[in-house]
Amino acid sequence: MKRVWILVTIFALVASFTVMAAKFSIYDWWTAGGEKQAITAEINYFHQLYPNIEIAQNPVAGGAGANMHAVIKSLIFAGLPPTTFQVHAGWEMYEYTKAKLLDPITDLWQSEGWTKVFPKEIEELCSYDGKFYAVPMDVHRANMLWYNISIFKKLGLKVPKTFEGLISVMKKIKAAGYIPLAVGDRYQWPAAMVFEEGLLAIAGPKTYDEFFEGKVNYSNPSVKKALEDFRDIMENYVNENHASLTWDQACGLVANGKAAMTIMGDWANGYFMGLGLKANVDYGAVAVPGSQGVYNLVIDAFPVPKGLSKIEKEYAYDWLKTIASVKGQAIFNQIKGSIPARIDVPTTGFNTVQVNNMKELKTDILVSSAVHGSEAPAPFVTAWENALTVVQYHPSMSLEQAVNYLNAVNAQYLTPQNLSH
Ligand code: BGC
Repeated sequence: MKRVWILVTIFALVASFTVMAAKFSIYDWWTAGGEKQAITAEINYFHQLYPNIEIAQNPVAGGAGANMHAVIKSLIFAGLPPTTFQVHAGWEMYEYTKAKLLDPITDLWQSEGWTKVFPKEIEELCSYDGKFYAVPMDVHRANMLWYNISIFKKLGLKVPKTFEGLISVMKKIKAAGYIPLAVGDRYQWPAAMVFEEGLLAIAGPKTYDEFFEGKVNYSNPSVKKALEDFRDIMENYVNENHASLTWDQACGLVANGKAAMTIMGDWANGYFMGLGLKANVDYGAVAVPGSQGVYNLVIDAFPVPKGLSKIEKEYAYDWLKTIASVKGQAIFNQIKGSIPARIDVPTTGFNTVQVNNMKELKTDILVSSAVHGSEAPAPFVTAWENALTVVQYHPSMSLEQAVNYLNAVNAQYLTPQNLSH
């Protein structure tokens, strides 16, 4: 009998050691104002629900996941997967599923009844080959223009309705001595957003999708016009130090009255709120002029990597259940500036920009962002952003030369083979 008790005690000690040794290790790239507070609030909520789980949060600066994914892939290959990590639903996630680096979580989607509360399009972006691999934490909107209300009032400007109108407004703002459009493309992607959102506004959602599917290229007149406008804006209407600033520093120029506008996803809403500014009082927000009626989706999701121990997998599931719950989605998104991915979260506690976006998500045409990982494969996105940087910094390149060069990049990366998944 004594022996049995010794064995039981040893077993309990080993088991408790395993529990103690296992940590909930989470990676994200939410390090700027607004987003940092949002993830902290969610992690605090998770801690309240599961006080015994030890949490190790690993933020990797860079925005849009610029630096984080290289870290994650190395960890998984080294057999040291984090418990979970931030990933954009769609192509960014497919890169992991194609390489068999994630565990399917269809069982959890079914037992939690999530197919009833997340919209179909979002469900599709979280699945691969008929199985679910991630849970959406938010819905962001990429095609948004943010503006400083007092500059607009002072200059007697109206918010433009077309992309052409936007460029005319930029001219007036420049003449009045303000920076028309703040950009912070130290990590390239915010400049690519100026092109992406311009493309959506000028060419419309159908051509936008066809462009990223490799069916049309820059020789298409409206895509060519978007390219021409992109080069014009980057050369004439943005802050001179744009290449040394980050997205949030660019938003800071709008907040402090140096710049009149910025094109950025609605994490900018979280940034402005974090500064104590009020939507529709201090800053205004509209769909990028010309893209009204279209919602360019950016979806942050969390998957379960392969190679977790049983207890780590349990922790990962606890996290996924937390972020997918009505309360979890409300806590995070109210601060983040985005809207819940669930359709049944009440609007209470969300600001006017968010309430409007919640309404428009239901009626707008949905597309998804290439810059933010959903619409196109990562190798293309990197090559495309690099190529846009080249044409941006070489204004001496004629439009025709730029078109030919960029068409060659698209042809190399947007092949049927690369686009199959
Ligand atoms: C993410 C947002 C984040 C933004 C800036 C986007 O790719 O989806 O959640 O706030 O990058 O870091």
